[in-house]
Amino acid sequence: MKSLIDIRDLTTGEIDELLTTALDIIAHPDRYARKCCGKKLATLFFEPSTRTRLSFEAAMYELGGSVLGFSEAQSSSAAKGESVADTVRVVSYFADIIAMRHPKEGAPLVASMRATVPVINAGDGGHNHPTQTLTDLLTIWREKGRFENLTIGLCGDLKFGRTVHSLIAAMSRYAGVKFVLISPDELRLPGYIQTDIMERNGIPYEETTDLAATMPALDVLYMTRVQRERFFNEADYVRLKDSYVLTPAKLETAREDLCIMHPLPRVNEISVAVDDDPRAAYFRQVLNGKYIRMALILKLLEVD
Ligand code: NCD
Repeated sequence: MKSLIDIRDLTTGEIDELLTTALDIIAHPDRYARKCCGKKLATLFFEPSTRTRLSFEAAMYELGGSVLGFSEAQSSSAAKGESVADTVRVVSYFADIIAMRHPKEGAPLVASMRATVPVINAGDGGHNHPTQTLTDLLTIWREKGRFENLTIGLCGDLKFGRTVHSLIAAMSRYAGVKFVLISPDELRLPGYIQTDIMERNGIPYEETTDLAATMPALDVLYMTRVQRERFFNEADYVRLKDSYVLTPAKLETAREDLCIMHPLPRVNEISVAVDDDPRAAYFRQVLNGKYIRMALILKLLEVD
């Protein structure tokens, strides 16, 4: 039994396999409609979610399986003080696979050590979000046709933005990738990701506060929301929340084949006027999330 806690739990070959399966699902959805008949997915969400939870649920339904779970900690026994370890041990009796989101970093890892079924990390605090990264990889593949030789701008809250942390870990495996880290000083990427991932893999990167200056060099621009729920005080959030707002005017110097991504939800960081730009990939990105989660469920349940 295998879980997915960190994107680095998957080899590059396994990621390729998942992408191939997702592309096949997109081409032949009918072939997959009954693959998970009789199987159950439990979604244990101790933190708010729209896309991640619903795309997991849609994915399981489209595979012919069914879904149970909760969407807030208050409606589970966590509100009575039950530990994550006990919760997943119990849920293992009811479901074949678990997707868990939790505000505490490491909670899904603990869950995977106690569950008797595979556990998928659907986001743990400000740490990791591997299935968003699989979504992002499928999006980059479909939009750009390659992973190699890309200059990727990551913009916004790089400190608490867990999707960025996992995406860097995944993209650091491909040749010719370069990162441009664009954030206010207070929201810079955690030092451990710079040293343990980028420097260890010899990945070139630069840090800047200036989105406009880097725009012409970018193949991918990955915007993120300032993660209000991880701030210690509201005044800091208010001061930093609108550090970057992408508008059509700011895209004037961008490449014609730029791919604009965002894990969503968006608050203010991309103007709605950008949505009609053909380079805006963030809603296509959402749909990719369903297909890649279908592929992941099949893999972890060892369905042919
Ligand atoms: C992200 C998350 O939960 O980390 N959302 C998502 O899963 N698509 C990004 C965010 O909340 O800002």
